Order: sequence, then structure tokens, then C-alpha cells
Amino acid sequence: MPIQISDTLTLPTPLGGTLVNRVRAVLPGELGGLPTLELNERAHADLEMIASGAYSPLTGFLGQADYASVVERMRLADGTPWSIPITLMVGREEARQARGTVVLTRGGQPVGLIEVSEQYTPDKGHEAREVYRTTDAAHPGVAALYAAGEVYLAGEVTLFEVPRGHFPAHHRTPAEVRAVIEARGWRSTVAFQTRNPIHRAHEYLQKVALELVDGLLLHPLVGATKGDDVPADVRVKAYEVLLEKYYPASRTLLSVYPAAMRYAGPREAILHALSRRNYGATHFIVGRDHAGVGSYYGTYEAQEIFSHFTAAELGIQILKFEHTFYCKSCAQLVSPRTCPHDGSHHLVLSGTRVRELLRAGEDLPAEFTRPEVAEVLREGYSR
Ligand code: ADX
Repeated sequence: MPIQISDTLTLPTPLGGTLVNRVRAVLPGELGGLPTLELNERAHADLEMIASGAYSPLTGFLGQADYASVVERMRLADGTPWSIPITLMVGREEARQARGTVVLTRGGQPVGLIEVSEQYTPDKGHEAREVYRTTDAAHPGVAALYAAGEVYLAGEVTLFEVPRGHFPAHHRTPAEVRAVIEARGWRSTVAFQTRNPIHRAHEYLQKVALELVDGLLLHPLVGATKGDDVPADVRVKAYEVLLEKYYPASRTLLSVYPAAMRYAGPREAILHALSRRNYGATHFIVGRDHAGVGSYYGTYEAQEIFSHFTAAELGIQILKFEHTFYCKSCAQLVSPRTCPHDGSHHLVLSGTRVRELLRAGEDLPAEFTRPEVAEVLREGYSR
């Protein structure tokens, strides 16, 4: 499909037509006598994603009809595209106590409410097979699914306050990101999801896109990730130094994406794209093995899966990129689409090798990572 760029300032409508906002301050005396439920990091992140409108049109954790429809056909029960079930999983004892209005807590502090409308106990093996395409408990997303409670609570949620604690300067709700886009007059905005430091290949994809669209929303995921991913605080510092030195400030916005990583590859690519539409992006980058882990997914499966939906249903244009790397003979970043040389000319470092070099305090090649970024990463590894 040709890339479409609009000449007029029109932010995309949120999925479902309206940007959900279920954030409001706690009312005096409203929590008295209500049962409480402690959220883990992932559930707390999902609560924020729902309440802030990042997961519009969801207004709560999924009920059984929507859940089954999402698992089976990647759509909510009403047909809206939705690829990953957003569920609140609790233990049996917690479920027994959770009736009516329940106060959601994090670290013992009230953070919101759920109006429990339904409880159900689905087949997690089936969910894993359909959503993650594997039942292997070594898959980090499947492991998190299996580790959570077996009863799913459904119901509309309220969030008392957007938790901006970790990265206050970069934490924006979808409405706030939309406001920045409008203020800057960007007619088109490409969003970039990442759970990694920005290496030269990532930068290349972003800048190729920036040749075509007005603005870049650098939107790193900062919710829970697996243990060997680079921690979010180190990454955010690395994004800051990179943007300052190498990106045009007026055409770039760094904002954090508070969700947890699910590592669901193709299915997660759809969720990432739909959610970025809610943040106001018109375009979304999907490169090689998006949101993948290990060898569970084919290199381009996360691109192919978008063919299940029409362009109008998605409401955000997917910019698909092939595997990108540095070619010593071309002396630039390339992909198989632009480079005639074989692998012996290419500089490709695995994530494992990068971590080894950083742990040993060594330099990363400048063709692979900007020196300023490598420096932040090395510091992070020496802590
Ligand atoms: S992800 O889990 O957030 O997808 P990562 O941060 O590595 O992981 O990737 C961010 C985006 O860049 C994804 O769309 C991914 O497909 C793409 N990407 C990462 N590295 C490359 C590369 N070398 N070539 C092409 N695309 C890439």
C-alpha cells in the first residue's frame, strides 16, 4: 500500500470513536468499608492504560464474551479489532472477596476502583496457544500468564491519579500527547515502540520515516520487562542523550509508554499499533520480529498479521521495515532491499553479544550504537 500522508491537521479518531478517560480523584469517604485487592506491577500498568484511554475503547478489564472473542478472532465481541486480552487475574480466595465495588491498591495504597461485573475461569493453556502461539512456560509472556491468578475479574475501572513517578518529565497520557502534536502542528506522526536502547538500526528506521511524516513520537515501553532487557531508567537516559545530539527537537517527542511487555510478537504488534493510534499517531513502525522473544515468531510475522484487518479498521498506517544493519562496503545503514553485498560485509551484533561487551566495559562499534548512548549503557551495566 502506498504511504499516505495528510496535508491537513487531523488527529486520528481513537479506536471506538472516543478517548476513554476514567481518571478522577478519590472522593472523601468513598473507600470506607470496601474490599481491597492488591495489584501487581502488570495489572497496575493495565489499569493506567485503560483509564488514561491508551486502550480505548476498553473501559475496564474484559468480560468473558469479549475475552473469548479476542482470543479466538482478535476482535472484541462487537467486532472492533483487539488482539490481546486485557484481564485482571486473581487467586481464588481474592476472587471470593471481590464483589461489587473493590478498591484496587498498589503497595497497600488505594490507586483506583473496579466495579466487578463478572468472574470467570478460562483455559490459560488455550489462551497461551492462541495469543502467544506457544504453551512453553519458558516464554516470558506465557510465564507471566501462568504465574497470575486463575480467576479473571471483569469490570469498569477508575484510576485516582496517573502514576508519573518514574519519568515525570516524559510521562504523558494520550490526551496530553495529542495536545503536544496539535500544538506543534504535526499533520502526521509516526510512533516508535521500543523496549531497547536506540541503536543505529532503530535510528535509521525512525529517520527514514521522518523524511515522510512531520513528527516522531519516540514511545519506549517502560512497564515490566524480562530480567535481561536493559532497565527503563538506563534506557530513558540513553534516549535523552541521543535525542539531544542527533534529532531535530521540533520534530521529535519522547514520551513513555507505561504498559508491561508481553512478548506476544505478532499479536502484540497489533495492540501496540492500535494503542498508538489512541495516542494520536497516524503511522506506526513495525520492523523485524516486533515484540518477539527467542525464536517463537517468524521474522516478519508481526507485519503479516495486519492483513487480518482493513486499513479503515486499523486507523493507523503501518510502516513495515526489513531487517536493517550497517554495511561496511556501502558505509551506511542498509537492508536487503538496498544493499547488494553479502553477510561478510555486514555488521550484525546479537543482543547477547552487546550485553557481553557492555558488561566487560568495552566500546560498542559506533556504526552499531552512538558513542553517547554506549557510554550511558556502560555506566548502567557497571552499577
Ligand atoms: S520491541 O520488542 O519493542 O519490538 P525493539 O525495541 O528491539 O523490540 O524493536 C523496536 C522496533 O524496531 C520494532 O518494530 C522492531 O521490529 C524494530 N527493529 C529492531 N531492530 C531492527 C532491525 N535491526 N531492523 C529492522 N527493524 C528493527
